[in-house]
Amino acid sequence: MKLHIKNFGCQMNKLDSSLVTSALIDRGFELTDKAVDADVLLMNTCSVRAHAEERVMSHLGHLKRVKKSHPDLIVGVIGCMAQRLGEELLDHPAVDLVAGPANIARIPEMLEEVLKSKNKSIAITEKIRRKNPQTETDTLDKFELAHDSDENHIHGQAFVRVMRGCNNFCTYCIVPYVRGPEISRPPKDIIEQVRRLGEGGIKQTTLLGQTIDAYTYTEGGKTYKLADLLKMVSEVESIEWIRFITSHPGKFDISILQAMADLDKVTPYLHIPAQSGSDRILKAMNRKYTASQYIDLIEKARQILPDISIASDFIVGFPGETEEDFQATVELVKKARFKNSFVFKYSPRPGTDSANNLADDVGEEVKRQRNLDLLAIQNAISEKDSSKLLGRSVKVLVEGLSKKPHVNMTENGNNPQLIGRTATDHIVVFNGPETLTGTFTAIRIEKTSALTMFGKLE
Ligand code: 5AD
Ligand code: SF4
Repeated sequence: MKLHIKNFGCQMNKLDSSLVTSALIDRGFELTDKAVDADVLLMNTCSVRAHAEERVMSHLGHLKRVKKSHPDLIVGVIGCMAQRLGEELLDHPAVDLVAGPANIARIPEMLEEVLKSKNKSIAITEKIRRKNPQTETDTLDKFELAHDSDENHIHGQAFVRVMRGCNNFCTYCIVPYVRGPEISRPPKDIIEQVRRLGEGGIKQTTLLGQTIDAYTYTEGGKTYKLADLLKMVSEVESIEWIRFITSHPGKFDISILQAMADLDKVTPYLHIPAQSGSDRILKAMNRKYTASQYIDLIEKARQILPDISIASDFIVGFPGETEEDFQATVELVKKARFKNSFVFKYSPRPGTDSANNLADDVGEEVKRQRNLDLLAIQNAISEKDSSKLLGRSVKVLVEGLSKKPHVNMTENGNNPQLIGRTATDHIVVFNGPETLTGTFTAIRIEKTSALTMFGKLE
């Protein structure tokens, strides 16, 4: 049986996909990177914006036609959209299996059943916001521990989930409704997993959580926070770099910055979305901080970690966003000097507070223009700040062959173009032997641009 899995979502989704893949390989499935060769096709979906869902629906339309000539093909929709739409997806003529993020551990059994009986199968969590029964959490933890493998990871790197779900209810966001309440994993499970990954050759681990700075776990009278966890992961000898994403500015406390300063292995990088620079909009988003509190936090981070690089997310065109609100966002971007920013046009998600209570009243053209404007401002900042790396030698962890050939940007010797990342998450392209993949190497930067640096092996 050949399995193909397509990802439409975030790092959390990719991690779910890799766990499911590993579980299915254990049951005798073989992974193929060609969808046309697959007997089983799984789509791991995202609900965060309408566009992500539309892509999946159009894919399903295509698969409906494919199934006319390949009636034995099994199609499964898993992930956030599966949880959000449930039965509605199962009714789609192309779909055989639907499983939400809290039900990934059941997918292997469900698939075997579908293959045997040819009946459709669904596993979603009815009341996702109720506190998860311990059994469900235990099942997910066990699944996580049993199937974490580096099969789908970038060579030398691994993602480790430290918490599931979210309790913040930012008014625009679907995540709390599809991934359920916040649950932190026990530190001993996380450490065991990191240790095993390290023994398997992993050099960098990225700890994952929707609001990772809210990590908290109480055991034996002691409460472990993110700073404690970072220290414990640092003690795993074989791991050299530790990252953690994503932080919530309202939860972030100074102990995390202090841990980053004290622990050499923790990279000086934060992904800490601001979403807006307007206090009025931040309030309407239920973000629980003001623009000046956000800037204070960034300034404190730079005091404690002068080399820190910071990335952010923004939503433009949130309901009621005026030109003045948008200018406040522009101001924040200029003050914060992010390494990069992801900018999204507001997309109302059914069932969220903003979709229920606020009209999507910023026109598409205005959203598009604000998106372009903010990206242009960020781009100019990135370009200027990146140029400071010119001529410097940087240490990168090599990720492998560069997917986009940057013709004429690096010297084309006998070696292919490789891509690596610095501790500050800057992307570096250079020529080198592919065998460097998964190792650290030094690169002298010769050219810079907003998002990509170009250099030579030292
Ligand atoms: N519309 C647009 N962008 C959104 N995001 C989350 N929900 C929405 C939405 N409804 C963005 C936020 C978040 C990122 C992952 O996606 O910026 O940080
Ligand atoms: Fe969504 Fe807000 Fe939770 Fe992030 S913190 S997942 S934006 S609700």
